[in-house]
Amino acid sequence: MFDRSIKIAPSILAADFANFGAECRAIEAQGADWVHVDVMDGHFVPNLTFGPAMCAAIRPHIKGVMDVHLMISPVDVYLEAYAKAGADVITAHVEAGPHIHRTLQAIRSLGKKAGVALNPGTPVEAVAEVLDMVDLVCVMTVNPGFGGQSFIASQVAKVARLRQMLGDRAVHIEIDGGITVDTAPLVAKAGADVLVAGSAVFKGGSADHPAPYGANIRAIRSAAEAALG
Ligand code: DX5
Ligand code: ZN
Repeated sequence: MFDRSIKIAPSILAADFANFGAECRAIEAQGADWVHVDVMDGHFVPNLTFGPAMCAAIRPHIKGVMDVHLMISPVDVYLEAYAKAGADVITAHVEAGPHIHRTLQAIRSLGKKAGVALNPGTPVEAVAEVLDMVDLVCVMTVNPGFGGQSFIASQVAKVARLRQMLGDRAVHIEIDGGITVDTAPLVAKAGADVLVAGSAVFKGGSADHPAPYGANIRAIRSAAEAALG
């Protein structure tokens, strides 16, 4: 069911890489709404992370939404593999190739929710023609590739503009990069509903000592909700 309530999506890029199953279970038990999986190819972005086999391996440890963010180019040849790995949402970058329309069609034909992501340097108009074929638009508030970077404040106006462009379409606005208790209110107010947070969720905790994950998730959620009044 679509709704615009605030959802916190911890990025497992900030989790213990030797312990992904337990980390996914811990963040969900501590209140995470979605689990965000950052797939990087060392080509579209200057870092390498997970392939489809890793996504398939963690899938049984996630009860809710597995949100797969593909920072890869080319992307189309890998969509089926991530669909089979159990992704619920598959997001591709508008900058990753010349055929985002075809990519989004392919994601939906695989029975998955389709997302399109925008780098900070990409104008929001770049997705204007695909708004009727997506379930989610991801506005990057850092340059993709690494966790723990600083929030790029100029993107807040872009989120507000996107919110306006979407009108009453049932499309999530996801924000990815530099989300903390200080930045979450800015994007929530501008119209975002899915907040990805890596370092701000995982700081201070571990799968064996997960209480800080819960405190971090609650703090980000309340800061965002407070901004909505
Ligand atoms: C960046 C990734 C983000 C990142 C968020 O390329 O897409 O999901 O892990 O991490 P923080 O919240 O630490 O900026
Ligand atoms: Zn991401």
